[in-house]
Order: sequence, then structure tokens, then C-alpha cells
Amino acid sequence: MEKYKMIGILSALEVESDIILKKMIEKEVSVIAGMTFTKGRLSERDVVLATCGVSKVNAALFTQIMIDNFRPDCILFTGVAGSMDPSIKQMDLVVAEKLTFYDVSPHQLEFCFPNQIWFRTDEELTELVRSNAKESLFGAIITGDQFITSRERKKQLKKQFPEALAVEMEGCAVAHTCFVNSVPFAIIRCISDLADSEAENSYDAFEKKAAEKSARIIIKTISKMK
Ligand code: ADE
Repeated sequence: MEKYKMIGILSALEVESDIILKKMIEKEVSVIAGMTFTKGRLSERDVVLATCGVSKVNAALFTQIMIDNFRPDCILFTGVAGSMDPSIKQMDLVVAEKLTFYDVSPHQLEFCFPNQIWFRTDEELTELVRSNAKESLFGAIITGDQFITSRERKKQLKKQFPEALAVEMEGCAVAHTCFVNSVPFAIIRCISDLADSEAENSYDAFEKKAAEKSARIIIKTISKMK
């Protein structure tokens, strides 16, 4: 019996999901509250894919609507991110072990529902993603509603979250939503920029290449699922 009968796939941008969508067959599109979900088959698996747009609210909305309407047995998130570690450069892959919101205080996260500072990814699913992304780094990702483009801001965030490997704008919102719904999830990001003053230029140069590298790992992971 397949463990993951229906696999949810999310990304923020079309450039991050296009190659997955193109590989899907028997596609069926549903629009729910203006949000588009494409159900189909990929590597002989049932999948549902959606491009949620940037930000925590969009990510949480799409994740919850996907869970409520398509009942995925797991959710995989793919996309690009800014580096938060001097050893991590453009095109490196980061697989999340845990995620937090950098723009909500840890105190509030701990004392308000659902009382989590760090949201941990599913161990088995994450291991599966990692096994298909051999050179990837594994660790903490921080999420907030800002595109980080300054050395000062990056330094500040690194001081607050020394373990952070990457920064992005959706991951922890997906993690939070999956956590409250008890849906196993994994998150992979490919670095497009170093979250510094060069970030916008670097993002433009690496967005497509990095997005496709990350998406290819998701395709490979799904093809290897038992
Ligand atoms: N996604 C890709 N690069 C990013 C950055 N520098 N800040 C936030 N999200 C990102």
C-alpha cells in the first residue's frame, strides 16, 4: 500500500512549479476562492499542485484549502531562498529540518496557538527528499514577509537565529498549517541570492535556474516514493 496516495505540491511562483506542472498528466483544474489547484498524475502518483504567490498569508491559505479539499497525505514545498550562511551560495540546496517566523517574537509563538517556536518537518519525508538531493544542506529556515536585501538586516537576523541556513517568505506558514492539520511535510529551497545588497540582481540572474533545480528534486523524490 502506498503511504502517500495523494501528494500535495506547493510553490510560491510559477517559475518554481512550471516544470512539475508540465510533467503532470490527466490534469484537472479547480478554482476555489480564486485559488487554482491542478490535480493530476506524476510518476504514476496522484498529485495536486498549486502556486500560492508570495507571503505567509498566501502560503497558509493555499495550504489549508489544499488540505480541506484534496486531503493530501503529505505536502512538499519547493522554491528559491536567500542564503543566511557564509558557506551557502547560489544554486546550493537547503532541505528544512525546522522553520520559524523571524517576524513574530518567539515569546508570542510559544504562548499563542499552536504554541510552537520551531516547526519541524516530517523526518521520513525529509529524509526521502534529502536522499534525492545528495549535496544538499540540512537545517533551519526562517520565514517572514520581507525580501531581505541588506547586509545589516541579514546580520541582525543571523544574530537572532544563528542556526538559520536560508531565509524565504512562505515555508514556515506551510509548516504551521501542516502542523495544525497533522499533515507530514517537507520543504526544499535552492539559493537564488545571498540576502544582501546584491540580492535583487542575483535573484534575477538565478531565479529560474535555482527554481528548476529545486523542482527537479521534488520530481525525483516523487518518482522514488514507495
Ligand atoms: N527568497 C529568495 N531570496 C530571498 C530573500 N533575499 N529574502 C526573502 N525571500 C527570498
